[in-house]
Amino acid sequence: MHANKPAPLTTFNFMQKLRILFVCLGNICRSPMAEGLFTHKVSEAGLTDFFEIDSCGTGAWHAGERADVRMRETADSHGIALTSIARQVQTTDFSRFDYILPMDDSNLINLQRFVSRMNNAKATLVKMRFFDSEQPNADVPDPYYGGADGFEEVYRILDRSTQ
Ligand code: 4NP
Repeated sequence: MHANKPAPLTTFNFMQKLRILFVCLGNICRSPMAEGLFTHKVSEAGLTDFFEIDSCGTGAWHAGERADVRMRETADSHGIALTSIARQVQTTDFSRFDYILPMDDSNLINLQRFVSRMNNAKATLVKMRFFDSEQPNADVPDPYYGGADGFEEVYRILDRSTQ
């Protein structure tokens, strides 16, 4: 008789998608760009079936709107389509998503306040630029009140960070 094989130490359930939520303040500039870039990279890698990807804002001012036209034009110029419609973060996001990725410290603090009032949160909160090889854990700067350069900089930062 052969001994049974030992069970693997870890298993990955390929039937279950990895759910990722990008978060900024308004959900019209940074997090739509992160969502668009990551969706594009996942598609290029042939991994679309393994991910659920979304974005939202900590604020509700722009709920229902498409991404800011300046962010969309920047994305277009790099071959990335931004199709998201802005929405505010909600309680169910913390039980649905595996990873929630805020763009800056202010977003992170707001999400931590939200999650501290819940008892069934499963999401891991990680700052977006934890994954930036050049400046780990810095903020993704808010481009909303600045010039065109700011949107291009957000693109470059998020292109590295979503890689
Ligand atoms: P986002 O940028 O957080 O990257 O979407 C902003 C969009 C709108 C405002 C601020 C930041 N706002 O004040 O309306």
